[in-house]
Amino acid sequence: MKHLKKIVALTGAGISAESGITTFRDSGGLWEQYDVMEVASIDGWRKNPQLVQRFYNDRRKQLQEVEPNVAHRILAELENYYDVTIVTQNVDNLHERAGSTKILHLHGELTKARSSADPDMIVDIGNRPIEWGEKAPDGTQLRPHIVWFGEAVPMIATAADIVAKADILLIIGTSLNVYPAAGLVGYADRKASIYLIDPNEVSHSGRDVTIIREKATAGMEKLKKILIESLNN
Ligand code: OAD
Repeated sequence: MKHLKKIVALTGAGISAESGITTFRDSGGLWEQYDVMEVASIDGWRKNPQLVQRFYNDRRKQLQEVEPNVAHRILAELENYYDVTIVTQNVDNLHERAGSTKILHLHGELTKARSSADPDMIVDIGNRPIEWGEKAPDGTQLRPHIVWFGEAVPMIATAADIVAKADILLIIGTSLNVYPAAGLVGYADRKASIYLIDPNEVSHSGRDVTIIREKATAGMEKLKKILIESLNN
């Protein structure tokens, strides 16, 4: 089989914005509407788990009302030309629904729940709400399978290994504000080409980055052309 070049796409909330999912830090974003520490931290869960449960039940419900957009679909299509791995901070399932096959969710997944005691005891929940009182197999309250502020990011080392092997790194729709995810860019090989798609300015740690200042869908249309043409050179 022909050896395919490796693309790693580091994606954030911005790639799903045009599907209708609100980002976190843009004006009107989720963290203007909610106190992040109340709904997305381990302390918030300990203080008011039912509020946290409701917040993620609402996010999961919203997932049924949205569709992957062209940016998600182009990433899936690029698998015809490249070995593509997606490392996403998003907890939605739009990359899966667009057809991408290799996806690592750094911050968890809305369609899964887990034991409150054992991070490895994970169950599929699909689109339905997690009920208060609903138990994991170990008898503890089921909680959203989300990595909250104040918790370790179990997949970070795996993600760093993946980024380090990329020939081409794509950074799409992330403010690069949240660590350790934001630090992944620093693992890219010195020879890797790095492209960043975002309609706003994003500070990106001094690497040589080609910036495409567009929304994800328009930016991915442009980048697709560049990436496919570069295969013929
Ligand atoms: P942010 O909300 O911090 O950043 C979203 C980025 O998307 C910004 O740089 C926007 O300029 C950009 N953006 C907005 N609209 C866009 C569009 N149509 N196309 C492309 N880009 C667009 O979201 P993340 O960087 O993903 O974690 O946030 C990282 C983490 O912080 C999240 O995973 C979440 C949050 O708190 C947890 O909840 C644990």
